[in-house]
Amino acid sequence: MHTVTCIAPVNIALIKYWGKRNEELILPINDSISMTLNANEMCAKTTISSWETFKANRMWLNGEEVTFEENARLMRCLDGVRRLAVANGALKVPLNWKVHIASRNNFPTAAGLASSAAGYACLVYTLARLYGIPINEELTAVARQGSGSACRSLYGGFVRWHSGVLDDGSDSVAKQVVSPDHWPNMHILILVVNDARKKTPSTKGMQRAVTTSALIQHRAKVVVPRRTEELTEAIQLRDFNSFAEITMKDSNQFHAIALDTYPPCVYMNDVSHSIVNFVHAYNEAVGSLQAAYTFDAGPNACLYVLEENVPQLLAAIQLAFPNDLVPSVEYLRGIQVPNF
Ligand code: DP6
Repeated sequence: MHTVTCIAPVNIALIKYWGKRNEELILPINDSISMTLNANEMCAKTTISSWETFKANRMWLNGEEVTFEENARLMRCLDGVRRLAVANGALKVPLNWKVHIASRNNFPTAAGLASSAAGYACLVYTLARLYGIPINEELTAVARQGSGSACRSLYGGFVRWHSGVLDDGSDSVAKQVVSPDHWPNMHILILVVNDARKKTPSTKGMQRAVTTSALIQHRAKVVVPRRTEELTEAIQLRDFNSFAEITMKDSNQFHAIALDTYPPCVYMNDVSHSIVNFVHAYNEAVGSLQAAYTFDAGPNACLYVLEENVPQLLAAIQLAFPNDLVPSVEYLRGIQVPNF
């Protein structure tokens, strides 16, 4: 029997992926950029065994068995990695042996905290280790077919998912913008407002946005191409001011598109909005942009802040939100070395 265990980190988007041009292959309508977190804090952990006596492919998620063969996304990941293994001539494990997969998240599933990103990245990475193939752009294209945002979690640091233009999706891959060492004092505070499952899952919400929002194509074709270039430059120059402004504007625009969807998708709640107001008031009080918020498809906030400004920001949060929030600090780092 061959067994491999790996962990993979969450990534948080600064320029959001929202909307697909191909549902089945998971091809996005716009590029996105994210930061990968330290795998020790928020991560998925996956163990995969393969043996000739296994009768069927099976999977357990957080201890509960889930259907495998009927799950198109899971099957595409398994088939995709096996295809790469054949192409690489790397056949550590016979391809006709079935697999048993056990995966866990150490944070709430589907609460808008990028659980599917870490989960599918971990699945694909662990399969790649099982069959003996390296992380490369082709592997990110396989992870993308599990969950779009997962392709960005295969690299550490800041990562850009290029939407690509080809119909087969072969150019829709993730590439590292800079490694984790480039901006080591960049930190994230996650303010957990609510860890309940989100009302409209991302897949559904973005589907509905593409068919009903009048604003989404303008965002994808005009705003995002400009923003991705500006944000890449801000990251390369370690220009926190521009980084913060672009990040907050993109979060706000993503939620504006969610509200422009019909029926609307409301992901942020009153506490989320009070965090937005707090961050703007805080930046004004300190006289420069020292904190930036971003919200995914849920009410929880991710605040970007440089390490030297963390204590002051944390103190201000505790004053502003005495009992409502549970802040925790995450550090910027790349994908973890797998443990066998
Ligand atoms: C708001 O990657 O979860 O987090 O591809 O349908 O699985 P599917 O969607 P998913 O969407 C993530 C949306 C987001 C923004 C982002 O991470 O870029």
